[in-house]
Amino acid sequence: MARIDASNRNSAETMDMFQPARLQEPTGEAANGDVAQPPEPLGDVRFAPGPVLIACASQTGVAEDLAAATHEQLRAAGIASRVMDFEALDRPTLEAARQVLFLASTTYDGDPPDMAETFSREAMAQPASLAHLHYGLLALGDRGYGDFCAFGRALDVWLRASGAQPWFPRIEVDDEDAAALERWHAQVAALAAAVAA
Ligand SMILES: Cc1cc2nc3c(=O)[nH]c(=O)nc-3n(C[C@H](O)[C@H](O)[C@H](O)COP(=O)(O)O)c2cc1C
Repeated sequence: MARIDASNRNSAETMDMFQPARLQEPTGEAANGDVAQPPEPLGDVRFAPGPVLIACASQTGVAEDLAAATHEQLRAAGIASRVMDFEALDRPTLEAARQVLFLASTTYDGDPPDMAETFSREAMAQPASLAHLHYGLLALGDRGYGDFCAFGRALDVWLRASGAQPWFPRIEVDDEDAAALERWHAQVAALAAAVAA
């Protein structure tokens, strides 16, 4: 039986923190995100029945490839999903979605990929109404650059400020780190487990 943990422990905190301008600046959220994130057991949290949206913001193709791999992983588990890039993503799409896996890279100087520039500037300018939405987020970056995973972190802050409920803490990937990617696929597998059974 599919079951979702509807708690959103951090929503009040992130509402206070939400400021669109923080995309360009390291924040308390970003600083906390710098701490290595231990794997988070999902318990009996699972995908709900219905399709999963895989939303991808990529500049050079890494997140795009991972989105395709995630789509294939879900297909193999018998779960319907579709991949949409941030060029096509808007607030109405998210307001209609129930469960989303986000893969979001950072480029330039802590900026969103070109395909996510409009979404970042317009959709993320204010919190949306996403209390119905559960999500997982993979943030891709490289600590060799100044503002590690800035867009993924800003997206996470905005989603929480919008009332969306994370299934697990944001996973950050430093330069395609294999352990972090393994953790992502393990979290997706855990979400899919009971649905596929
Ligand atoms: C020109 C350039 C600028 C980048 N700037 C950042 C950055 O500011 N912060 C960060 O964490 N990673 C940065 N990265 C690293 C990318 O986010 C990382 O390589 C990621 O895996 C790329 O994913 P994508 O191919 O989906 O865009 C940058 C990479 C490039 C090539």
